[in-house]
Amino acid sequence: MLENSNITTASKAARLSVAPMMDWTDRHCRYLHRLISRHALLYTEMVTAPALVRGGALHLLDYNPEEHPVALQLGGSDPAELAQAAKLAESAGYDEVNLNCGCPSDRVQSGTFGAILMKDAPLVVQCVKAMQDAIGTEVTVKCRIGVDDQDPSVVLPDFLEQMQNAGCTRVTIHARKAWLKGLSPKENRDIPPLDYDLVLAMRQAFPDMHLSINGGITTLDQTEAFLDAGLDGVMIGRAAYHNPWDVLGQADARIYGDPRDQGATEVARAMLPYIERHLTSGGKLHQVTRHMLGLFTGRPGARRWRQILSTGATRDGAGPELVEQALAELGPEKAD
Ligand SMILES: Cc1cc2nc3c(=O)[nH]c(=O)nc-3n(C[C@H](O)[C@H](O)[C@H](O)COP(=O)(O)O)c2cc1C
Repeated sequence: MLENSNITTASKAARLSVAPMMDWTDRHCRYLHRLISRHALLYTEMVTAPALVRGGALHLLDYNPEEHPVALQLGGSDPAELAQAAKLAESAGYDEVNLNCGCPSDRVQSGTFGAILMKDAPLVVQCVKAMQDAIGTEVTVKCRIGVDDQDPSVVLPDFLEQMQNAGCTRVTIHARKAWLKGLSPKENRDIPPLDYDLVLAMRQAFPDMHLSINGGITTLDQTEAFLDAGLDGVMIGRAAYHNPWDVLGQADARIYGDPRDQGATEVARAMLPYIERHLTSGGKLHQVTRHMLGLFTGRPGARRWRQILSTGATRDGAGPELVEQALAELGPEKAD
């Protein structure tokens, strides 16, 4: 598939991606994930175009050079503003610019962007085209299967067709509706039922698009099953965050055919120089270690690891020795 599309670094990496997650997938989290997998595509938290363009908050574009391939997710619905934000993203060197058409939070609804854009595909087309005209970097979309009382079996194919006609051939589909009234953003990630079959049907309907599936996927076994079923990519959010080793630790071997010989302990140790640099530049230990709490899930001593880091890392003067102390509590690595 995709013979007639541009195969970009990001689109190759997108066989497995870690979802954009506000407050979670910051640059420290992405650095950790990149140490675990050399290949998975990593998404930033959503950055709004108004914050970049009107607010001048360019620090929101900061990332570590080691994070590539890394995609910036933008939120917005003003084509001209998104085009400017996309230019800033391109100058910063991101491998992909993704438009959020799936986030249901109130704040986002009030700005007319996120999932509410599922109700206005022509506006999404304008946004995508404006971004594509502004940059050479690949522009992609992350969407839902529909919102509110829309019929996903009508809305989703229509939405994808419009994206395809606009030249946006890579779309990640969160396989559930968003209910814009009455559910919190958190409930909107669990309560509307998942419809994987509809996403798989889109594979048949749009053979030339690069389609990734997202929502409720927690293992590499499931990931491989979706890839075997013909999807081009699988995006994992919460499971990759809470249990990064189990989700990403074998990803290079199983998804990208590039095995590597390392354990979770080595990853934790490889974070130490990064932590030193962060502290030297005025950062706090917990800003990094909060993303490491799930690294040893399921392994003897994992509770102590979490406890030591979560209680100790916020104390004044806490440094890398706390991580060493927590590592000393762990039992042997899990056998794979
Ligand atoms: C804490 C949190 C923050 C999120 N922030 C974003 C976001 O900024 N942009 C976005 O498109 N989706 C966001 N999402 C949704 C995820 O990208 C993903 O679509 C959703 O969690 C379903 O995937 P999962 O079941 O693998 O977690 C967020 C999810 C969580 C848990």
